[in-house]
Amino acid sequence: MKNFSVVLIKGDGIGPEIADAVIRIFDASGIPVSWIEKQAGLSVIDKHPSGVPEDTIKAIREYKVALKGPTTTPVGTGHKSVNVTLRKSLELYANVRPAKSLPGVRTRFDNVDLIIVRENIEDTYGGIEHIQTGDVAQCLKLITRPGSMRIAKYAFEMAKLYGRKKITAVHKANIHKLTDGLFLECFNEVAKDYPEIKADDLIVDNTCMQLVTNPERFDVLVLPNLFGDIVSDLCAGLVGGLGVAPGGNIGDDVAIFESVHGSAPDIAGQGVANPTALLLSALQMLQHIGYQKTKVRIEDALFQTLKEGIKTKDLGGKATTMEFTNAIIERIASPSELEFSEPKPLQIKSEMLQTHKEKVEDCHGVDVFIESWDGIPKVPEKVDHLELKMISNRGTKVYPGPKPDIWLVDHYRCRYVAKDENGEYLRISDEEIFHLLRELYVRRFNWMHIEKLRLFDGEIGYAKAQGE
Ligand code: NAI
Repeated sequence: MKNFSVVLIKGDGIGPEIADAVIRIFDASGIPVSWIEKQAGLSVIDKHPSGVPEDTIKAIREYKVALKGPTTTPVGTGHKSVNVTLRKSLELYANVRPAKSLPGVRTRFDNVDLIIVRENIEDTYGGIEHIQTGDVAQCLKLITRPGSMRIAKYAFEMAKLYGRKKITAVHKANIHKLTDGLFLECFNEVAKDYPEIKADDLIVDNTCMQLVTNPERFDVLVLPNLFGDIVSDLCAGLVGGLGVAPGGNIGDDVAIFESVHGSAPDIAGQGVANPTALLLSALQMLQHIGYQKTKVRIEDALFQTLKEGIKTKDLGGKATTMEFTNAIIERIASPSELEFSEPKPLQIKSEMLQTHKEKVEDCHGVDVFIESWDGIPKVPEKVDHLELKMISNRGTKVYPGPKPDIWLVDHYRCRYVAKDENGEYLRISDEEIFHLLRELYVRRFNWMHIEKLRLFDGEIGYAKAQGE
C-alpha cells in the first residue's frame, strides 16, 4: 500500500487545534497519508508579506493536494488574503462547496444535499476597477469562453464521477445578456456531451428564493464567481452555518481544501473549536483523490457522533474539541479490504477543452464615455462617417428625444455609429476613432474611456441602452 502525501497548512487561531483533530481522525481510519507540514499566514507574514512563502507554494505544486486551516488576514496593513494569493498563483479555477444536512445539527431543512461549483478566477474578481469621474466608479465583469467552458466541464465531470443527476447553471443572463449569456452558452455547449445528466438553468434571484424555500430540489449548481460567492454562503447557512461548511479550491493539477470559516481568534487556544468543517474539507479531499470508501467511513463516524448529540459548543453541545474528536475516532469502522488500493482521482485538464472561437470582427462605431457636470454634453453630431446615435446616462438613453425622468450623474456614454446611405453598417478604421477623439479633445470634452462597437460574425457585440 503506497502512502500519498498531503501538504498541511495548519494556519492561525484555531487552525492548529482543528488540524490536529483531523490528523488524529485520519490516523485512526488507517488511511495511508503522509502530512507535509508547511507554513502560511500570520506566523510568516513579517518575512513574506503575501502570507505564503515560495516554499509552501512549491510544495503544493509538487504534492498536488493540500489541506489548509484558516489563516488570519491582518486588517488595515495592506496585506492580501492568503487564500486569494494561493488561488491566483496556482490557478485554482473551481471552488467546490458541498452543502449537506448534518444529523443532529438543527436547521430549517433536513434533506439538503447539494454541491456548489463556483468559477473562482473571473467575473468582477479580476479586480479591474477604475474611478471614472468624481461621482462614478466602474468594475469590469469579465466572463471568458475558456473560463466558462472549463468550469462547466468540471461540474459535469464531477457530477458524473460522484453519481449526481442534475446540474443547474445559475446566472443573470436576462440582464447581463452578453457576459452571463456567454457563461450560459458555454454551459449548454458542454451539457451536450453529458446526456445522462440533466442540465437546466435558473436566474440567480429565483435560485436564492428557491434555495430558501425548497433546497432539496437542487443537486449541483454551477455559477460565475460573484453569484457563486454569495450563493455558497447562503447554502452553508441552510445546513448549519460556516462552522460546518467545507470547501475545495481546485485547479488542473493542484487542489487545496479548507474550511470556510476563519481563524476564530476569540476562542483560539481554549480547546472548544469545532473541527467539523475542516474534517469535512479533508473528506472532500479524500473524495477528490479517489478514496471514496474511506471518505464514507469517516463521514459515518462523524454523523453518528453528531446524531448521538456529542457536539461542540457552537452547535449547542458541551464537548471540547478533544472529546468530540475522540468520539468520532471511537465510531470509525475498520477499513474494508482493498479500500485503499484503487483511488479514482478526478482530474480535468484544461488543454482537453477546445474553446477558442475565431470570429470575424468588424468595427462600425464607438462608445465614448465623457464627464459632464452641467447636463447632457453637446458633443458633435458627426465627425467623418461617425454620427452621434444616442447619449445615455447610467445605461438609459437621454438623447435624442425626450429626456426620461431620471437622475443624471456626471458620466455620459456617447454612442457614435457609421452607416452608409442604405442604412447598412459601415466599417470604420481606428484612424476615424482617433479623429473623433481629437475633435472631442479640441472642444474640451473630458473623455475617460472608449469601447469599440463591433460585429462578431455578423452579430452585434454590444448591449443596447435602455430605450435605444
Ligand atoms: P471567523 O469565521 O473566524 O469567526 C466568526 C465566529 O464564528 C466567531 O465567533 C468564531 O468563534 C466562530 N467560529 C468560527 N469557526 C469556528 C469553529 N470551527 N468552531 C467554533 N466556532 C467557530 O470569522 P472572523 O472573526 O470574521 O475572522 C477571523 C479571522 O479569520 C480574520 O482574520 C479573517 O480574515 C480570517 N478568515 C480566514 C478565512 C480562511 O482562511 N479561509 C476565512 C474567513 C476569515
